[in-house]
Amino acid sequence: MDNQALVIFGASGDLTYRKLMPSVFDLYMNNSLPDGYAVLGVSRSKFTDSEFRKKMKEGIKEFSHFKNAGAEKINHFLKKVFYISIDTQKSEDYELVKSKLRELNKKLDLRHNYIFYLSTPPQLYPVIPKYLYGQGLTLQQKGFRRIIIEKPFGHDLKSAMELNKSLTDFFSEEQIYRIDHYLGKETVQNLLVTRFSNGIFEPLWNRNYVQHVEITASESIGVEGRGGYYETAGAMRDMVQNHLLQVASLVAMEPPAKVTSEEIRHEKLKVFRSLRPLNEEDLRNNVIRGQYTESHVKGKYLTGYRDEEGVDKNSRTETYFAMKFFIDNWRWSGVPFYIRSGKRLPTRVSEIVIHFKPSPTQLFKSVDGAIEAGNQLILRIQPDEGILLKTGMKVPGNGYEVKSVNVDFHYSDLKDHYIPEAYERLILDCMTGDNTLYMSGEGAELTWRFVQPILDYWESDPDAPLYGYPSGSWGPDSADKLIEGAQTWRYPCK
Ligand code: BG6
Repeated sequence: MDNQALVIFGASGDLTYRKLMPSVFDLYMNNSLPDGYAVLGVSRSKFTDSEFRKKMKEGIKEFSHFKNAGAEKINHFLKKVFYISIDTQKSEDYELVKSKLRELNKKLDLRHNYIFYLSTPPQLYPVIPKYLYGQGLTLQQKGFRRIIIEKPFGHDLKSAMELNKSLTDFFSEEQIYRIDHYLGKETVQNLLVTRFSNGIFEPLWNRNYVQHVEITASESIGVEGRGGYYETAGAMRDMVQNHLLQVASLVAMEPPAKVTSEEIRHEKLKVFRSLRPLNEEDLRNNVIRGQYTESHVKGKYLTGYRDEEGVDKNSRTETYFAMKFFIDNWRWSGVPFYIRSGKRLPTRVSEIVIHFKPSPTQLFKSVDGAIEAGNQLILRIQPDEGILLKTGMKVPGNGYEVKSVNVDFHYSDLKDHYIPEAYERLILDCMTGDNTLYMSGEGAELTWRFVQPILDYWESDPDAPLYGYPSGSWGPDSADKLIEGAQTWRYPCK
């Protein structure tokens, strides 16, 4: 890999502390960093290099895979970590970024290769590129220049389009890395391998055999002190427009011609273009939002969302979102996709469930409804990462009663395999110039375009339902009614 510097804007923030720096340290421990590297933290807060290193050390010790690596290793890594304080709103302050990079470039032989990571409030996303450009830091004359943009990528379709425009004024599309940390998860990438390296799944992976597809990302935590941010986002913007629609595109896409960024992005875009636009009836019947209310779970009091810090007492922000939608293409015509995500649900689990159609004739009786429900392939994204196939098996003894059994693989069985953190994988990819696991500009716009009618509906209709659900429950009952027939959502720990 080329020598290079990673410049993190927003370096005094939580993400740098919990995720970014521990992940770069993981790369260092895995010998994935080049000899000539530097990490330059940039923020408004005043720190000296050594104060910044001290803070980062704490983050590494708490959040790195290699938290027990020992002081010597951590200090060695931190020797190439630096810090400058600037006012990111002031164009002249970027001279300091430039001169610091010039200095580090000489000292550490960085070969003019720079990645700029924007982990700042989103209002700064259009500002920083402009000022970097002003200093000539975006032009790839001597080395490469790349920019990573954290979520949220826009607040709605209009702002996402504006953001794309302001980025592409100063960087070319191939220099822009729009991060979605779900795509960095090992198990999400394994979706492609499961689908396209096994002969047995793909022939069944279509409308002829699949009854419906379910994608869940549930969290047991509440908004955890992020009420201010969450009030402006809500579950749909926070989890669905980005993470879950990205996952859905990997579930639904056609096999790529090659495993290249271009081919994979192309196939994902085809899925986004085939999303059936939501009409008024969909908005009223196929979209459910909820908000957690106070409750007691196992003797513990859980606050309601409206009592969280930074949250409006009359807030209409959703902490739960579920929807049913269709992908109008040859493969998926008529197959419903169900997506849900929420906070303060009973457990933290992200998983994809492919529900296959039941066998055409029912020769046997099942003791647990397994046959009637059909086989399920469950791709567990987290925790307890793995794959589970539910099949029917004969209950031993007289007769032909059938029971559901699990064919189950857990990643934890691969004891000798290191599973990188999503951020570790994604930062490494950017360092090597591979944007396969990053969102394209068009992809970001298409997913916003798809969900925009929901935002418009909620905004325009004060009576659009927002259901309360007790903290620690599986969300509003009405979400169950989304799924037709005898089926319900899969409840991983009900
Ligand atoms: C983030 C959201 O993008 O993803 C958070 O802003 C959410 O609200 C988090 O908690 C979930 O990520 P993970 O990796 O824990 O599933």
